[in-house]
Amino acid sequence: MRVLVAGANGQVGQHVVRLLAEKGHEVRAMIRDKDQAPTLRELGGEPVVADLEGEVAHTVEGCDAVIFSAGGGPGSGAEKKETIDRQGAVKLVEAARKHGTRRYVMVSAMGAADPEAGSEAMQPYLHAKAQADETLQESGLDYTIVRPGSLTDEAGTGTVEAAPSLGKRGEIPREDVARAIVATLEKENTFSKTFEVLSGDTPIEEALDSL
Ligand SMILES: NC(=O)c1ccc[n+]([C@@H]2O[C@H](COP(=O)([O-])OP(=O)(O)OC[C@H]3O[C@@H](n4cnc5c(N)ncnc54)[C@H](OP(=O)(O)O)[C@@H]3O)[C@@H](O)[C@H]2O)c1
Repeated sequence: MRVLVAGANGQVGQHVVRLLAEKGHEVRAMIRDKDQAPTLRELGGEPVVADLEGEVAHTVEGCDAVIFSAGGGPGSGAEKKETIDRQGAVKLVEAARKHGTRRYVMVSAMGAADPEAGSEAMQPYLHAKAQADETLQESGLDYTIVRPGSLTDEAGTGTVEAAPSLGKRGEIPREDVARAIVATLEKENTFSKTFEVLSGDTPIEEALDSL
């Protein structure tokens, strides 16, 4: 598949680009700084420079799938949550519909199911994620929404726990999130599904098959 990765230079995004390329997918890696291009090329992606706060629709053209793993980041304020986490994701939903790109995998967050239950500091982020997820759920696209717990930089284990609602909080290595995203891409049983994912004991493929 030809796959657009938004947030390709991010910590999850770089794993995603590498894993997609290893699986033989053609990866269009969206970056906002051309100096990041050599890193993305080394990982196996073809960089495209675009800013989610600007015009990005063209980056989807010719792609079979979009993976959204961008975000304003923990250091950013409510305004960036709105322009990047929500509007940026929604722009790519609209672009996917316009260009006939059917598949869209969203990296959301645990807590987006009930933003009001989050801390005051987290609420702008969780509301932005929840609204982007809702737009995608109503888009008519073949979507999958992945909601990981707190991300860590530990090496991935290849095993997780996944369910529409896990009823608890926890952590998961970014590498395992990336593996789950890449594994879900062509798994039709995950189409039109929204699920939470944490570190666990079940091999990723098996955990996704049981959704
Ligand atoms: N941190 C957590 O515990 C947690 C938990 C659950 C879900 N998540 C979500 O998981 C996803 C991946 O997280 P991560 O740790 O990989 O985040 P990250 O390292 O901060 O990566 C985010 C990426 O988004 C890019 N980006 C930011 N603004 C952009 C813009 N205007 N246009 C284009 N790209 C832009 C950044 O570009 P630059 O490289 O140029 O900065 C960066 O590459 C995010 O959606 C995050 O919200 C995080």
